[in-house]
Amino acid sequence: MDLTVQLKGLTLKNPLIVTAGEHGRDGETIAKVAGFGPGAITTKTIAGMAVPDPRPCYATMRGGFMNCVMGAVIGADQWFSREIAIAKNGGVPVIANLAGTNPAEAADLARRAEEAGADIIELPTHCPHFAENLEAQFPGLQLPPPEIYDPEPLYQTVKAVRQAVSLPIIVKLSAIYHHATLDWVKAGIDAGMDAVEVADTLGPVMAINIETGQPKMGGPRGFGAISGGALKPLTLRMVFEIAQAYDIPVIGSGGIESWRDAVEYFMAGASMIGACTAGHLRGPAAYRSIVDGLAKYLESHHTTLAEIKGLTLRRVEERKTKGWQEITQPIPPTVIVEKCTACKLCQPACIYEAIKVEETAVIDPVKCYGCNLCVDICPQRAIESPYYK
Ligand SMILES: Cc1cc2nc3c(=O)[nH]c(=O)nc-3n(C[C@H](O)[C@H](O)[C@H](O)COP(=O)(O)O)c2cc1C
Repeated sequence: MDLTVQLKGLTLKNPLIVTAGEHGRDGETIAKVAGFGPGAITTKTIAGMAVPDPRPCYATMRGGFMNCVMGAVIGADQWFSREIAIAKNGGVPVIANLAGTNPAEAADLARRAEEAGADIIELPTHCPHFAENLEAQFPGLQLPPPEIYDPEPLYQTVKAVRQAVSLPIIVKLSAIYHHATLDWVKAGIDAGMDAVEVADTLGPVMAINIETGQPKMGGPRGFGAISGGALKPLTLRMVFEIAQAYDIPVIGSGGIESWRDAVEYFMAGASMIGACTAGHLRGPAAYRSIVDGLAKYLESHHTTLAEIKGLTLRRVEERKTKGWQEITQPIPPTVIVEKCTACKLCQPACIYEAIKVEETAVIDPVKCYGCNLCVDICPQRAIESPYYK
């Protein structure tokens, strides 16, 4: 199964990128994780100055993960004199994720990353807890938090980096830009980016230990950022919106835990996918299982990445042509009695009291609201949706 993808003349053996996180913390780790099959690996954010992480810095939450780590704890000098060269021993392209405090510094870091042998430059846009934690470590620094309304600083940064390097440039949008995704993407395109990654974590967020009353994250107020499954519906929509509007490669990232999530991102229009939290929670073998599962899915469905890419964009077009944009009439679903095990999960989940389970689930067509929750909730897939066939 051919899973190769191209990015501005660079071939990746498959579309899975390990996005910036602890598996990109140094050259040795990157070279090791390369053995778990991803198409490319990203460094943690490289900045001029190395900054330690607040502790504690990780927690799980329903459907997701929370962190308050900073960028790489190794500074730019070491990355460019040593770590990138070691990372390249892994034999997969290395994406140097870097952040300057202004466009000129970002351009300088990018130029040094190119000289050090990085294959791709990535520019992150916003880290929800960074400014507050940095201020706590360096009181009086008063670094302004990154702009979240005006894409102009992004435009200026990408333009400066574009002039400094010939490597492909990925702009990594934060999920915080979800309200104006297309404006930020346009700024990146106008300035010369080659691909957009959507998205970085969302925040600031918090979680509290109810025994101590303490925030679960370290730092002044215990703020952090969400990643993992909870992020996916938002980032998937952002990918869809970009693919609908622009002809630019989109890297879908946010809650990719299995090949199923990956397939959704391709269908929404992604050209590549990224995973971070899955590797944090399950180890680097998670990357291989996503790639292998994707290959198996494509084989068993006799299809290719190119064919599934943007399928949902085409399906949404179909809604227009078939007069399906708003179906407001309830249509009751069908219970496949041979599959129903009478487990009763659907009965309390039907807030319209339309389902009664005796030997099998029975749906009252008069009370049924047509919401489809029972279809979704049934573990046996014994209730069939009547919509959008
Ligand atoms: C522990 C952790 C550290 C991260 N560090 C960085 C980072 O240094 N730079 C960056 O651009 N994104 C960073 N991210 C964001 C991830 O690369 C990724 O974009 C985001 O978590 C969404 O994908 P996921 O749900 O697969 O984790 C980090 C995420 C986590 C969970």
